[in-house]
Amino acid sequence: MDENTETRAPGLKAQSGVQIVVREFEVADKAEIRRIFSEGLMEMVVDTAFRGLRHHPESLLLYSAATVVCCVVTMCWWLIGLLPAVVLCGRYCYSRCVINGYLQHAVSRDMGNMEEFYMKSPDSRLFVAVLQDRVVGVVAAVGQQKPGGAVELRRMCVDQSCRRCGVGVALGLKVLEFAATHGYSSVVLGTTAYSPAAHQLYQRLGFRCVGVTNGYITPGARRSFLTQIFYRVRHHHYSLDVHNRKITLNGEDSRQERN
Ligand SMILES: CC(C)(COP(=O)(O)OP(=O)(O)OC[C@H]1O[C@@H](n2cnc3c(N)ncnc32)[C@H](O)[C@@H]1OP(=O)(O)O)[C@@H](O)C(=O)NCCC(=O)NCCS
Repeated sequence: MDENTETRAPGLKAQSGVQIVVREFEVADKAEIRRIFSEGLMEMVVDTAFRGLRHHPESLLLYSAATVVCCVVTMCWWLIGLLPAVVLCGRYCYSRCVINGYLQHAVSRDMGNMEEFYMKSPDSRLFVAVLQDRVVGVVAAVGQQKPGGAVELRRMCVDQSCRRCGVGVALGLKVLEFAATHGYSSVVLGTTAYSPAAHQLYQRLGFRCVGVTNGYITPGARRSFLTQIFYRVRHHHYSLDVHNRKITLNGEDSRQERN
């Protein structure tokens, strides 16, 4: 099927029973896409600052060491008591600053010039999910410009009010379809998300985690001393073989293999 046509996600329906339609973005969708993308990104601030902490024993060790040093040097109990609040505040502010920097970075590239980036290149597409005439999700497919290479899945984001309705799966399947019809061998993606939603979605689509980079430098950010202290993140690399993929829909496994 040509990706220019709409896809009614197979077997996937929103909870209301309304069908999810995934199609290429149109110029009129731009404002809604930007809103969904920026809100989805900024949601990651709290997750990264607080939920992410338990995944970084090296940061916990550093904060504990700082507390001990503060205790030995100052013997000032109110200062020691204040330290966790300072650390959490620092983590929140740095997460916000870096994620905002990433948003600006994306806007300075594809998300600020969607027509140029996605309408004029044969290797890249921006898809939207539509539910009851409303754009509720976005995803991009960016192909490597060599035959048989990989497609990168980017910018996956679903409006908060439409989550857990199958929109993420429908968008992911559209990228897999784009990769298959254009002769790409795999789909790859990277995420620094700490919420289980993104990881479970990708695993459900058949992606496998093929590596983790600890201390990843987010695009748009610079490696600095304070970033290392307050914003250490893990970057998960996922990959999926387009011709031999296993997806899980409605609790059932299915394997699609090349004939
Ligand atoms: C991740 C995201 C795209 C998922 O979109 P979605 O439309 O809610 O996903 P779906 O409804 O298609 O869910 C598919 C599966 O993902 C998993 N999943 C989705 N949300 C989940 C959650 N909150 N907790 C646990 N698993 C979740 C489930 O396995 C789900 O299947 P199920 O509902 O049958 O159990 C959405 O939560 C989002 O936009 N988050 C903010 C931005 C983000 O993190 N993007 C990814 C960055 S790489």
